[in-house]
Amino acid sequence: MESASGMFSSADAYQRHVGRYGDALSRAHIEAAGVRRGDWVLDVGCGPGALTCALADVTGAEHVAAVDPSPSFVEACRARVVGADVRVASAEKLPEFGRRFDAVMSQLVVNFMQDAEAGIDAMRAAARDRALVTSCVWDYADGMTMLRAFWDAALEIDPTAPDEGRTMRYCTPAELRALWETCGLEDAETSAIEVQATYADFEDLWAPFPTGLGPSGAYCASLDAGAREALHDGFFRRLGEPSGAFTLRARAWLVRGRA
Ligand SMILES: C[S@@+](CC[C@H](N)C(=O)[O-])C[C@H]1O[C@@H](n2cnc3c(N)ncnc32)[C@H](O)[C@@H]1O
Repeated sequence: MESASGMFSSADAYQRHVGRYGDALSRAHIEAAGVRRGDWVLDVGCGPGALTCALADVTGAEHVAAVDPSPSFVEACRARVVGADVRVASAEKLPEFGRRFDAVMSQLVVNFMQDAEAGIDAMRAAARDRALVTSCVWDYADGMTMLRAFWDAALEIDPTAPDEGRTMRYCTPAELRALWETCGLEDAETSAIEVQATYADFEDLWAPFPTGLGPSGAYCASLDAGAREALHDGFFRRLGEPSGAFTLRARAWLVRGRA
């Protein structure tokens, strides 16, 4: 599989892909993390900054730190959230922040860490005593409609397609809770977040896939023209052949626990 930083480089394509769900997901995530004005918060794997920006709205940009290994995403996040401390770094090798954050959060990132246990350990180490450490991941196997329909269409053509519902290590609430408990987080609990996004038409949804963005895009870009067209058509059918604007629902699983 392509490295995570290689498949996440275009902020524009990201925004048109899963980034479309980012604002609503971020608001629900922040509520679950109980962030209030004046809290110090760290966003790990910030991407182009959906969560970072929503955090800055709540607590003030100067109270927000964020990291991501992708330099182009860090640049986009810095431009979006002026005043936040945004750095190029991975979860596994966080900068020396000290134990100073009231909440340490990561959104749609755990499955892209090279070593998730090391990444969550580092997040716990950056949190103040009893502060919340939170993450959310898509429900790849079922409730993330866009990715589920994409992979079901891919599997129809190619039974060996790398369906994220199968390849992602942390897909269920039980897997997330076990990761939190293994990393020493206390009172670990999980819940669901439901969001939605609207598309102008099917081509609006399809456009970012051939750019190679994320695992679904990387798979799409690897296909020859004929297979890609078959995937496009199968994906369209699975979404009910929408003739104009349409809305898709997406479920994410959230986990939180205390440092
Ligand atoms: C699906 S995006 C999520 C971005 C953002 N959190 C959001 O909600 O839009 C996954 C992000 O994880 C980042 N990433 C990949 N490996 C990472 C690691 N080891 N530590 C931290 N972030 C990582 C990628 O660069 C990418 O920005």
